[in-house]
Amino acid sequence: MRNHWTLDIIDWSKFDAAKVEPALLRAVKAASLVEYNAKDYVEYLRQVFRDDAETIAVIEQWGAEEVQHGDALGRWAEMADPTFKFAEAFARFRKGYTPPHFVNADGSIRGSRIGELIARCVVECGTSSGYTALRDASDEPVLKQIAGLIAADEFRHYRLFYDLMHQQTEQLPAFWERLRIAATRVSEAEDDELAYAFYCANVPAERTGEIKYDRKAYFNMYQACAMKMYRRPHVERMTAMIGRAIGLHPESRVVKWSGRAFWEVIRWRAWAAGDDQHDERRAA
Ligand SMILES: [Fe+2]
Ligand SMILES: [Fe+2]
Repeated sequence: MRNHWTLDIIDWSKFDAAKVEPALLRAVKAASLVEYNAKDYVEYLRQVFRDDAETIAVIEQWGAEEVQHGDALGRWAEMADPTFKFAEAFARFRKGYTPPHFVNADGSIRGSRIGELIARCVVECGTSSGYTALRDASDEPVLKQIAGLIAADEFRHYRLFYDLMHQQTEQLPAFWERLRIAATRVSEAEDDELAYAFYCANVPAERTGEIKYDRKAYFNMYQACAMKMYRRPHVERMTAMIGRAIGLHPESRVVKWSGRAFWEVIRWRAWAAGDDQHDERRAA
């Protein structure tokens, strides 16, 4: 098992409060809770690969790295906003959110192990591009370092699940099935997880009585904070990686066209979500 970086290699003394960008801080707080919740995903994947000890060992190492991402981001967020209490916000998030398919999961909801690994590749594409975008967008030196370390991990995770997918002995699903699985996983990014994490991370416990959770509103607020950090190359790279996971050549016309379309969607969302962010700032 490879040696992984630790929180001690982060140069915390370089922290510069004047360079913290409020919108990025809000997105980082939400991401810290989602990352730290990776143990649930490990349990689920342990079920999917229950007779494959080697893969389970790889998944456990992967899960430990994701939890560490949450730790690093949570610690940075507590420095950037001393009113943020990572442990308390995480406890609230955990209490209120369990992915529906984790309840009594017995096997893959994607229908096959390869399907599950395609879905994991899609998630790692998203996080790899997301943390690269965060690294590029942040002027705060410690966040830049953390985002760079995490982005490299996420890219490695993508390779890990990609390689595992090609090691499976079961038959590769047909192209349209692979595309359906990837598209379904992309659309699941809009479920409760990020929206509720954003709510728990950005609404202090003492204000939850007066500020109620609304999935659509908090998802839009998350988008308003996160989408603005993306630049076109981040989105095109993510699309090429997803395309590769389902067997498309990264240079193919369909991948290039999808990259452009994805970029337009993200630009539109960042613009459309802007007003909600403004309203929430006034409410908080
Ligand atoms: Fe992660
Ligand atoms: Fe990852």
